[in-house]
Amino acid sequence: MNPDIPLQLLGGISARVFLRDYWQKKPLLIRQALPDFQSPIDADELAGLALEEEVESRLIIENGERPWEMRRGPFAEDEFSKLPERDWTLLVQAVDQFVPEVAELLENFRFLPSWRIDDVMISFAAPGGSVGPHFDNYDVFLLQGHGKRNWKIGQMCDSESPLLEHADLRILKDFQATEEWTLEPGDMLYLPPRLAHCGVAVDDCLTYSVGFRAPSAAEVLTHFTDFLSQFLPDEERYSDANAQPVSDPHQIQHDALDRLKSLLAEHMSDERLLLTWFGQFMTEPRYPEMVVGPELEEDELFSSLEQGAVLIRNPSARLAWSEVDEDLLLFASGQSRLLPGNLRDLLKLICAADALHTENLGPWLADEQGRNLLCELVKQGSLGFADE
Ligand code: SIN
Ligand code: CO
Repeated sequence: MNPDIPLQLLGGISARVFLRDYWQKKPLLIRQALPDFQSPIDADELAGLALEEEVESRLIIENGERPWEMRRGPFAEDEFSKLPERDWTLLVQAVDQFVPEVAELLENFRFLPSWRIDDVMISFAAPGGSVGPHFDNYDVFLLQGHGKRNWKIGQMCDSESPLLEHADLRILKDFQATEEWTLEPGDMLYLPPRLAHCGVAVDDCLTYSVGFRAPSAAEVLTHFTDFLSQFLPDEERYSDANAQPVSDPHQIQHDALDRLKSLLAEHMSDERLLLTWFGQFMTEPRYPEMVVGPELEEDELFSSLEQGAVLIRNPSARLAWSEVDEDLLLFASGQSRLLPGNLRDLLKLICAADALHTENLGPWLADEQGRNLLCELVKQGSLGFADE
């Protein structure tokens, strides 16, 4: 994808300009980002998903049993018929994992790393429905799918911003609206992290949120050090060979701190381990229980492919790849694999994995390591047969 081509999705600016001027910085309203957009899912289908055990969903009822009542799914069918006429919202997470046409929307966002994308959440709101003024710690593209929604944006917030006292929701105590727009189907609003916003349904409306993931500094440190510690032997410890005699035995001298700093620096700067951890962490599936594969012999897989079977990425799996010196790392749903550099094109093909079949796999079907890799990915559940 040429990053300098103006994109309708971004209101006629290029991906490069969007990333330079807006991404993580300021909001952008895009009228008809997806012209004539027709939601591939309707309110009833969304409610149907919210009945399912494996789907994460929430109902927010502004004047429910208490103000801003939140209920978590899965819901029983009759719960929807008992809802008030207005002022409620149903939110369903990761619809892209359950509805292929919704996953296809993500193709429009290929100018961003796929491992930064979290999910497509879809909300249905009755007139007046809103989740209240709030901020998120993530970037989001809010695409209007059906009906109209009024969006107001406000101030930049942080963890000190005062919130209303609701156990379940993080609603801002003061919301200082600065701009507002009414979005129609196909219109989209990009919001950077921490910008206060509030969307209120004008009529029955569906809103798609393309959400992103960015680990917090606390997560990076705890998870990376946990990962590192598996490789550190117990005998590797704080050490002070060649220490100087102390003048006060109760004082912690700065040379102790220097020793600690070099112990930390030595491990923290291990780029190979940092990359391995990061790739594994960023490809961890939201629903690991949905990434399971069959027991399978290599021969079975390849005779199926030869008979016309097609492999696709499991919609719940995440894939990414990277380079380490001459080698490559493939990350698949929280696991990593070191592979020789000659598999680069296969890795790229697998990560794009719209469809893998004898035609595009071509010579890889005769490559021992390539075959082995494909088979392992099917057994792990990251790839699966298209008709399953
Ligand atoms: C919604 O779709 O109602 C809420 C989306 C958001 O504000 O993050
Ligand atoms: Co939000």
